[in-house]
Amino acid sequence: MTTTRKMKAKKHNAKTRPAGPWGSNVVVEFEDEIAWVIMNRPDKRNAISPQLASEMNGVLDALELDKRCGVLVLTGAGDSFSAGMDLRDYFRATDDVGPIERARVYRTNGMWQWRRLLHYPKPTIAMVNGWCFGGAFTPLVSCDLAIAANEAIFGLSEINWGIIPAGVVCKAVSVVMNQRNALYYVMTGETFDGRKAAEMGLVNESVPKSALRKRTVQLAKTLLEKNPTALRQAKIAFKFSAGMSWEEAADYLTAKSDQAQFSDPERGREQAMKQFLDEKSYRPGLQSYHRRRLRR
Ligand code: COA
Repeated sequence: MTTTRKMKAKKHNAKTRPAGPWGSNVVVEFEDEIAWVIMNRPDKRNAISPQLASEMNGVLDALELDKRCGVLVLTGAGDSFSAGMDLRDYFRATDDVGPIERARVYRTNGMWQWRRLLHYPKPTIAMVNGWCFGGAFTPLVSCDLAIAANEAIFGLSEINWGIIPAGVVCKAVSVVMNQRNALYYVMTGETFDGRKAAEMGLVNESVPKSALRKRTVQLAKTLLEKNPTALRQAKIAFKFSAGMSWEEAADYLTAKSDQAQFSDPERGREQAMKQFLDEKSYRPGLQSYHRRRLRR
């Protein structure tokens, strides 16, 4: 990561990418059923503008049904994950518009950052490759899993410019960080690195930057081996049941489990039972069943 203010970062060239409903602020690359969704404003440290938010909504809509996307990885171009909300285009530009217009801009952003991403029907991994500030914490937490470079720098910097972590940042960090850690960084605005983010549970793990992509691909491949219906229902079930009473959760999870089996075109549960109990060809405690892939 560089701290040289005027250094130009490499911007992904949208011309070389497959056509899609996205533009130059977000690019998508496909590789082996992994869709790399890249915030692409490296000169602005991938700060999130209304245009980027709008393109991201188009990307999430498209990838939902795109067979090239089995796992979605969210990351940033150049040396940044994202410097958070764009102070000029997102905040200053909406200071003087009416409240309804401002609410529309905020809604467009909330749509991709958490309303869509939290319960996205495919597994999501945030790959934090560099700077990660403020509003970028929301999509980071909304992704199911997260891997950071040891060298990545995180900060809840809002306090440093006299505001609170709004949007939905306070809520997001409260889901993955404990109160002492979250309030420490909310109130001091100090930065921390990828190792500390992993230690606090903000990300699953951190690795040297040179190994970041390889480790992310490895994790994505692990997910791609699993039954996609079960994966989809498991992550949704986990996130919704966290806010329920035990009684409600028991009832909801039973219904969710039935729904998962009913809607699974692979009939994964039957295949797995047969392979373990009848054929004795695998052990579920130690590995996934051998999938007869039908369709995602
Ligand atoms: N909003 C708008 N523009 C931003 C931005 C943001 N959040 N973060 C960076 N930029 C722009 C800078 O204005 C600068 O633009 P310019 O080249 O037109 O002058 C460009 O990105 C590079 O920023 P710079 O500060 O020179 O890069 P750096 O590598 O030295 O430092 C950061 C990187 C991330 C530490 C620094 O840009 C920063 O503190 N950004 C704000 C982070 C923040 O508080 N975000 C919370 C928003 S919710």
